[in-house]
Amino acid sequence: MEENKIPVHIGIIMDGNGRWAQLRGKNRSYGHKAGSANVERVAEHAFSRGVKAVSLYAFSSENWARPKEEVNELMKLLGSYIKKLTARAVKNGVRVNVLGERSRLSPELLRVIEKYTAKTAAGKLQLNILIDYGGRGEIVRAANAALERGETLTEESLSAHLYTAELPPLDLIVRTGGEIRLSNFMLWQAAYAELYFTDVLWPDFGEKELDIALENFAKRERRYGKIEC
Ligand code: FPP
Repeated sequence: MEENKIPVHIGIIMDGNGRWAQLRGKNRSYGHKAGSANVERVAEHAFSRGVKAVSLYAFSSENWARPKEEVNELMKLLGSYIKKLTARAVKNGVRVNVLGERSRLSPELLRVIEKYTAKTAAGKLQLNILIDYGGRGEIVRAANAALERGETLTEESLSAHLYTAELPPLDLIVRTGGEIRLSNFMLWQAAYAELYFTDVLWPDFGEKELDIALENFAKRERRYGKIEC
């Protein structure tokens, strides 16, 4: 594969944990645990293939509406996962960032996020975990931040206030679990991203499946609205 055909920044909508657990006669939390165990495997494989940034949809602004127990389990899982992941990230030169609305997260989770992600600040590769994230909310928040500073709203001024301001553009979005929609994931950043959907449930999406997605991406012709001359 040519080097320029590897996406620089991939976004992943990790869907299908609940169904994966259900197929095994287990509860949804069992699926989320399997899903979180899969994160490092896929992210590390992506980095080994030359990807520089991976953004993962871990908890959407809409996920608060799930049953309280599932939300609590997910929040606990995210805290313990961030602790574990950041130790490995430091060794691998990966900077871990949590993107999303912080105000609704518990003080314990916020402490974990601040303490552990800070240790990874020197990493050159980027792993973003989107928690309490919604694409529309992010755009409104960025627009308000620009207006508060007296800036004229332009694509550039708004982009500079997005959570992703420091990140390269999103080249590829992968969604597992069979649904063909974006579900409020990185709507602004998705403008010119290639989209890849697969029926494979997130806990089953491994190195081989990522390679298939990368091969598929490499065949796409990206014209950004222009025509062939
Ligand atoms: C969608 O599956 C997945 C989520 C709502 C959460 C994603 C979370 C993880 C993979 C675990 C934690 C993540 C990190 C980064 C540690 P679903 O529950 O909607 O599945 P279903 O569509 O089969 O019901």
